[in-house]
Order: sequence, then C-alpha cells, then structure tokens
Amino acid sequence: DEKKLKKFFIGAVDCGTTSSRFLIFDGIGSIIAQHQIEFDQKYPKSGWHEHDANELVSSVTECIEKATKEYLDQGHELSDLKTIGLTTQRETTVVWDTETGEPLHNAIAWPDTRTHKLVRELKERKGADQLQKLCGLPLSTYPSSVKLMWLLRHVDSVKKAYEEGRLAFGTVDTWLLYHLNGGKAKDLYVTDSTNASRTMFMNLDKLQYDDTLLDFFEIDKNKIRLPKIVPGSSSNAYGEIASGILKGVRIAGCLGDQSAALVGQQGFTPGSAKNTYGTGCFLLYNVGEKPVVSTHGLLATVAYDFGGQRKPVYALEGSIAVAGSGVKFLTNNLGFASESHQISELAGTVNDNGGCYFVTAFSGLFAPYWIDDAEGTIFGITQFTERGHIARATLEATCYQTRAILDAMEADSGHKLESLAVDGGMTNSDLCMQTQANIIGIPVDRPAMRETTALGAAIAAGFAMNIWKEFDELKEINQKGRTVFEPNVLKAEGDKMFKKWGRAVQMCRGWLD
Ligand code: G3P
Repeated sequence: DEKKLKKFFIGAVDCGTTSSRFLIFDGIGSIIAQHQIEFDQKYPKSGWHEHDANELVSSVTECIEKATKEYLDQGHELSDLKTIGLTTQRETTVVWDTETGEPLHNAIAWPDTRTHKLVRELKERKGADQLQKLCGLPLSTYPSSVKLMWLLRHVDSVKKAYEEGRLAFGTVDTWLLYHLNGGKAKDLYVTDSTNASRTMFMNLDKLQYDDTLLDFFEIDKNKIRLPKIVPGSSSNAYGEIASGILKGVRIAGCLGDQSAALVGQQGFTPGSAKNTYGTGCFLLYNVGEKPVVSTHGLLATVAYDFGGQRKPVYALEGSIAVAGSGVKFLTNNLGFASESHQISELAGTVNDNGGCYFVTAFSGLFAPYWIDDAEGTIFGITQFTERGHIARATLEATCYQTRAILDAMEADSGHKLESLAVDGGMTNSDLCMQTQANIIGIPVDRPAMRETTALGAAIAAGFAMNIWKEFDELKEINQKGRTVFEPNVLKAEGDKMFKKWGRAVQMCRGWLD
C-alpha cells in the first residue's frame, strides 16, 4: 500500500511572514524536495511592517522552479506531481490596480501597528461591540480591515483607484492565486474562508461578506474588488499554474497557514489542538461545526472547510504576535548570535532566566490580553544579567503566553487539554519545548517532520483531487518519531514563573501615545 501511495507527489507553496517555501511530498508525507527563500522585512517606522508584494510572488515562483528541478533531478516524473496546495500568512493586506495588476502600496504585514490610533477611534463607534459576534475577531491592529482603512485614508493612489472603481483588495492567498494563474491574463479574484475570516469583513456563520461589517469599516463594495469567498474552500479548484516549470499543474488547496498546520497535525476531531511556533505563535483548538465566540480573549475563526458532504469546521484561536521574530530580534537587532538556533544554545549557557522577564510586545500584545499600547519591555535586569538570561527570557515569553491562552481556552470550552501538539521552527529547540511543558504542566508532543503547515496544504489539495477521501486514510502520515516532552519540575514552580510574567504584562501597558 505504501508503495502505491508513493507514486503520488503533491506540492505545497507556503508563503509565511519571513519566507516563502515550496515543498514536494510523497504519498506518506515525506519531503522529497524543497526550496526556501527569505524575503525582505521592511520596517519604515517604529511599529510599521511591510512586504514588497511583487517579491512575495517572485520568491514563490523561484521556490517552485528550484524545488521542482531538485525533484526532477532525482528522476521523478512531472506527471506524478498531481497537484499543489497553497498556504499563506494571514491578515497581511495587499492592494492593487485592477487595470494594470500592479500593487499600489507595499503589503501591510499582519504585525504592523500603525493603525493603533484608528483602532482607538473605531472602538468608540456605535456598533463596535457587536463586531466580534459577527466575525469572531476583536477590534485590534491585527485584522486586514483596519489596514485597508488606513490605506484608503492615507495613500492618495489607493483612494483614487477606489473612487474610480479599479481597486482590488486581497490577502496574500488572493494575491498569489491571482499571479500564479497568470495575473491580468486571467483576472482571478478568489479567497478561502480561513483567510477571509481574518479580514473582519466575513460573517462567520454564513462564510460570506457581511454588509454590517463592511459599513462599519466604511467599505463600499461597489467601489472595490473584494475576492470571492470560495465555498468548501480549503480543498477546491483554484485554477492552474500559468507559466514556468509547473505550467498546467492544478492548484487544489488553499488555507491560511495556521489552519493548514491544524490539518497537517490532523486535528480533525473537536477538542484537538496544535500550537505552531513560526514568526508568531498560534494555538488553534478545533471546536467542531459551530463557531464559539470567546469571552476570554481568544478569536473565533474558520479552521478548515473541505466542502462536499463535510460542513465547515471552526476553531478557537490564541494568537501570539512574537515568537520566532523575538529570536530574530536577538540575532538581527542585538547581534546576540548569527543564526537563530544559536539563541537556544545561548539560553542553555545559564540555568534559568536569572529573574529576567521579556514581554516581547513588539506589536502590542495579542491573545488573550489584547493590549494595543504595550511595547516590548524587559524586567528584572541587574549586574548579574547575561545575554543567556535574555535569550532564555525571549524563548519563555512565547511559553507564558501559550499558558495564558490555554487557561483562556479551558475557561471558554470547559475542556482541559491533555497534551499539546506543536510544530514550527522554534520547536527545534529542546530547551524551549521542555520549558513549555514545565510552564503548562502537560506533555508537549512534537512530530519528527515539522513542516506541518505545508503538509496541511498538500493534504487539502490531495482531498480535492480525490487522492484521499477519508481522514482515516492519513493515519500513517507523519506519526513516526514523535518526541514527547514531559513536565520535569513541580507544578508550583511553573505557576510561580507564570505569576511573575503576569505582573510584567500589567506593567508594560500605556507606552504608545
Ligand atoms: O496570522 C499571522 C499568521 O498567519 C502568520 O504565521 O507562521 O508566519 O508566523 P507565521
């Protein structure tokens, strides 16, 4: 059976916050070929974070060319590469001109906080307290809606295109699908519900744009091209690659990266959860076929929608803005090391955090706190403090926030997780994962192959092409060689550290004007 499955290969484009990747998987989920390119992170002002939208496309197409070449060099056939899935960073906002297909501004990336004053203004508006019930998200700097509003208010070319009816808006999935399908030549404007559920424009029950939401954010749908939300959208037809080495290959899956990771971890049953430590860190908890709107600071979002007989599945999400980006801050901005993995080694040179707590609130603080006016703050520095302590405090920051999210999730769902499935770059650090287990007091379960985001996109595409029909058929995929980190300190110790973190969080508010 394994042999039969191995004849199929599925590709996955993963365009995250800091890099693009293309991976080719075989039928049992092993990586056959891959290529990754980091793209430029633009920080034009404090709190601003942008990407060159054209570079997102060129990095993806270059990854496709290079990884596919590697695949062919191994003697595989192009005809065995059945389909590709797409997964992307969410919320990041792209605007372009429908007549030229050219972007009208850099993409505003999801961690960008330039909208914090706008958010303050919007929170005062009538109806502000009704939004979360409709779309699942609280008002903050995070979703696409406020980014688009900012562009319409501050960038003349965007406003002009809007007034003249030639403005297209999209999240990164829409932008990439538009280009992979040939751009202007095909004029495809589509999105999937997992990405659309991060805009604040989509009604979470109906999975369609909601006029109340659009009106609140002053968006006239007659003036702007909003991408069509495809039904059964995680696993569906998204056209085909228009040019290059994979010309003619069908794109059959599309999901936001955190949804894809849940699929890649096979979190298909209500009550299952995963935590992905990428640029940020995102815990998704499957709540089944009805959305649960949180009363404890979590988001309600679409987990995935495989269509056909299957109903859309929802998740409660705890979003942490800074995880891997905190590690990058230590390497790129403070020069602590040249490679990310060395930060874990540096953290290992000391026995504990030495009393240091680093609230890495570079984008304010996301879940479950939602403090827009927090800024990054390190507490507990003395003459004793070494770089190792700060490295450790940086890794611990994500672990504490994960604990706060798990507490909120338990309060919202009445269910306590028995173990936490993890993936993403930072999970390569044993020290970080052990710390995580100690702080949450339950085992942390890490797969051997940690590219679960790309795997999830490949699985979604495979379902659309009928390579798999039932989730049960995936049972063998990526289950071998998992590592389980059991808590190895007394619960009281983890609790004590978490309490200090809580105090630090309270003290870092109010920094932004
Ligand atoms: O919501 C933002 C998220 O989709 C970004 O994911 O993996 O790039 O941190 P990641």
